[in-house]
Amino acid sequence: MTVESAVQAGYLVAAVLFVLSLAGLSKQETARRGVLLGMTGMGLALAATVALALDRSERPVGVTAALILLVLLVGAAVGTWRARTVEMTQMPELIALLHSFVGAAAVLVGYGSYLTESRTAGAGATVHNVEVFLGVLIGAVTFTGSVVAFGKLSARLRSSPLLLPGRNWLNLAALVACGALLWWFLAAGSTARSTGGGAGLVPLLLMTVVALALGWHLVAAIGGGDMPVVVSMLNSYSGWAAAAAGFMLGNDLLVITGALVGSSGAILSYLMCRAMNRSFVSVILGGFGAEPGAVAEGGAVEPGSYRETTALEVADRLTAARSVIVVPGYGMAVAKAQYPVADLVARLAARGTTVRFGIHPVAGRLPGHMNVLLAEAKVPYDQVLGMDEINDDFPETDVVLVIGANDTVNPAAQDDPASPIAGMPVLEVWRAREVVVFKRSMATGYAGVQNPLFFRENTAMLFGDAKEQVELIVAAL
Ligand code: TAP
Repeated sequence: MTVESAVQAGYLVAAVLFVLSLAGLSKQETARRGVLLGMTGMGLALAATVALALDRSERPVGVTAALILLVLLVGAAVGTWRARTVEMTQMPELIALLHSFVGAAAVLVGYGSYLTESRTAGAGATVHNVEVFLGVLIGAVTFTGSVVAFGKLSARLRSSPLLLPGRNWLNLAALVACGALLWWFLAAGSTARSTGGGAGLVPLLLMTVVALALGWHLVAAIGGGDMPVVVSMLNSYSGWAAAAAGFMLGNDLLVITGALVGSSGAILSYLMCRAMNRSFVSVILGGFGAEPGAVAEGGAVEPGSYRETTALEVADRLTAARSVIVVPGYGMAVAKAQYPVADLVARLAARGTTVRFGIHPVAGRLPGHMNVLLAEAKVPYDQVLGMDEINDDFPETDVVLVIGANDTVNPAAQDDPASPIAGMPVLEVWRAREVVVFKRSMATGYAGVQNPLFFRENTAMLFGDAKEQVELIVAAL
């Protein structure tokens, strides 16, 4: 077997491992296996690529091997250090930064490929030039977009959206300009071949500048709260950039991996938008979340009177309850209440109470935010159910503890067609016998809409920091 065919076989196995890895990652129980399969696939892909590079090396093999080892060591050292030091809450910004590397790599591969590959005239050369152009375009947009997302998420840049007048027209103009530059680039490319020079470099450089500005502007126009959707969208872009690089390099594995990342990122962005009841286009065009915390217009909720309760009273109710559902939200993450919550649930379960968690797909601020927190606090996976799995069980539930969740349990989404969140799927907690809402004030949640749940007869408000209140309940139990 030649090195070439062994490498191709390795690539095929790696691609299968990546697909299996994604399948594993789709469930909490199999996520660890998914990660291991992904790591094995990546190890194999790296080994095969290094073997191919050594086989094709025009320099002495030892020099190529030393160069590869050097970059691998630097990359591995930086990667290990960051992975060990990053806080769970900093994950989105780290991912945004990593996407910017993919974008930059696609741009560099595009230039490298354009400048070094010998192109012969004809359709093949035109296809290659289109691949170069698209790779650099997507890569450049991904690069600056991810840098801005990183800046916003890490509070280095202001998170409010940048609203330039006619911003959508500016984006459209940039795309039209790129179309014209592609035409120029292809025309120049054919003359470059005959002259042996790089006449297409001018339009390529101009397009790169336009694309860098476009990426910057696209993400700058999006409010901080929508950043998780943007990060997942940039994840998708980085996948397509990698796939374009795969086409340029004739590397099938890169094409497959890029397509997997590109489509899974797009699907995740779509699912997040659907669970937030936002249209994908409205997120991309930006402008939402201009004034975080402001009460959104629309909806006719008249704040009525609400009932307050105490930790002691809640402990009494929980002692009498036979079935309890805990619905956590962003406030549980802010209060870092997952540990006392896990403790509370374990105690109730030990007394024979049926206790489960009901998780909304966009509870918190990241996909899977609540699942990660609960896994961190060692809550058994079988107690953690998704919205669709648990929504029918609320009428048979004695007590629901809503811990720092707000929009995701708002009945206005179903009852009030004028509400800004009308149509958003929600956890129907109000159908339980009794609901206890843990929060610090009567303030609104992320969407800035009033929540009629708080004024219902079967709802009691437990004011204060969620962690402190849960600890008081545990002490009382
Ligand atoms: P939110 O609607 O944001 O409400 C969180 C609640 O937690 C607030 O009402 C707040 O009330 C309370 N809170 C904050 N700190 C607290 C503390 N220390 N102790 C007790 N309570 C505290 O949360 P949710 O129900 O999880 O909904 C998530 C929202 O984020 C949705 O609108 C969703 O569309 C949006 N979003 C989600 C994602 C993803 S992917 N998950 C991404 C972007 C946007 P007080 O201030 O009165 O305490």
